[in-house]
Amino acid sequence: MNDETKKKINARYERELNKGERFWPDSIFKDAIMALAIFLVLILLSTFIGIPSDPKADPSDTSYVPRPEWYFLFLFKFLALYGQVPLIGKIEWLATVIIPSIAVGLLVLLPFLDKGPARYYGKRIFPISIMGIMVVSMVSLTMLADVPTGLTLVGILQTIGGLVIPGLAYIVLTLMSFVFKKTSAKVMIWTAGVSAVLMVGFTGAVLALHQPTAVEEVAVATTLEEQIVAGQDLYAVHCVECHGDDGKVTEIVGVEGLEGKLIPPINGKDILYTLNDASMAEVIAYGRPDAGMNPFGKAYNPEGLSKGEIDYMVTFMRYMWDDRFEKPVLKPLFPPLVDGEIPSYEVHIAPIVKRYCISCHRPGKDNNAYLMDTYENTLKSGDNAPSLEAGNLESALLVTIQGTPIPDPADPAKPLIGKMPPKSDLKPNVIDVFKRWVMAGMPQTAADAAALPTPTPEPPATPKP
Ligand code: HEC
Ligand code: HEC
Repeated sequence: MNDETKKKINARYERELNKGERFWPDSIFKDAIMALAIFLVLILLSTFIGIPSDPKADPSDTSYVPRPEWYFLFLFKFLALYGQVPLIGKIEWLATVIIPSIAVGLLVLLPFLDKGPARYYGKRIFPISIMGIMVVSMVSLTMLADVPTGLTLVGILQTIGGLVIPGLAYIVLTLMSFVFKKTSAKVMIWTAGVSAVLMVGFTGAVLALHQPTAVEEVAVATTLEEQIVAGQDLYAVHCVECHGDDGKVTEIVGVEGLEGKLIPPINGKDILYTLNDASMAEVIAYGRPDAGMNPFGKAYNPEGLSKGEIDYMVTFMRYMWDDRFEKPVLKPLFPPLVDGEIPSYEVHIAPIVKRYCISCHRPGKDNNAYLMDTYENTLKSGDNAPSLEAGNLESALLVTIQGTPIPDPADPAKPLIGKMPPKSDLKPNVIDVFKRWVMAGMPQTAADAAALPTPTPEPPATPKP
């Protein structure tokens, strides 16, 4: 800028200054026009575009878990990351009360603290750097909101990018500004700039490394029946353990840590009428952590189920248990047996086990180390193995599924193996399948079963005359 233009600009500025503009009514008038214009735009937008409305608020819904609006996500992410920090992570009030109060307090007090007349940005490096880092960190925390935290690579990168770098930057910049007052503006700008770039870099890395889990949802059930069946299968694995295959359980038995706990049956009106689909899905996603039901949803449990999977379970519960819905006719669990037919593991037993037993007898569960996830394990595993003996109607499994516990030889008052499944009864046709299967020697495939001689004698052939 040469002196000539400088003079011109100054002259014009003086002119304007002398002419003056009154706050009332001149400035107010301009403000009012602007406010009116924005108001009109809002009215037009809401009239012609609008936003989709959420379902109506339901005051009887006790399961509602309040969720932050998206513009608070950064704060929630901050709390989540803060909770991971050793030692101070446990001091909740520091993060929930003190830090936000300081932030808000500083904003309110800013006009009193910073009374410097300088407005030129070159003279205001410190506040601009602090604000810049704050904005970058709010944006990156918001973008990371969906990524689960935890002691994983992704979790650690998040903590560094979202907590450590901005924290250090605030401290270093404050020191430069107040303690080492001679720090040059350049150094400060570089500090702020490098921190911001690092934060963006870490955020980018986390987003790139984080595999969105929706991709896993390969098997998409399209028809209602497919959804119900998918929901039933998921329910069988994840919920039968505590709630039983029919949701009737009122006292948990056979689950470590929850032995004898009383729970409401989840297949009755009390639950089904008071929870709508959305709140039911939320109950499953969030669990009842205080009562012993862990969260099942991805949002609360990194290994959890997807939203779609939870919805299938809700659909299953609705259509099978809620008397306001028409119960669909589903394919039978296994093809019915004709007289003398020998069932096989693959065709008959596996689906039964999946429905009634796998929830407790799978890898990761103790339960006398009896795993029913494969054919071999079903035959061979277990503390009291084998629980299946070919041709023996007194096999432990057959006895317990018919409701008779097996006493402990060391202490006859206590059962060695309780009734199986502990809290529901198998239907007679299911027990019949197990019996026939054991009597025939537990064939694995349909071909194996067909190759066996039929146990019931053929009706005597009438001698030809
Ligand atoms: C480890 C045991 C356990 C498992 C597994 C479990 N739950 Fe629960 N569930 C509980 C307990 C305990 C309660 C009782 C909570 C209470 O009393 O407030 C409960 C309560 C419920 C409720 C009633 C909530 C309410 O508002 O009263 C529903 C619905 C429910 N569970 C559904 C499910 C579904 C669906 C699954 C499978 C995805 C499942 N649960 C898996 C232990 C479990
Ligand atoms: C609610 C969880 C649960 C379900 C469902 C369940 N079990 Fe069990 N099962 C247990 C527990 C717990 C044990 C350990 C013994 C005990 O405490 O009674 C066990 C033990 C067994 C054993 C003894 C294994 C050994 O070697 O000691 C057999 C056999 C068995 N279960 C069969 C079944 C069958 C078959 C089904 C399905 C029809 C089934 N269980 C369903 C919880 C369950």
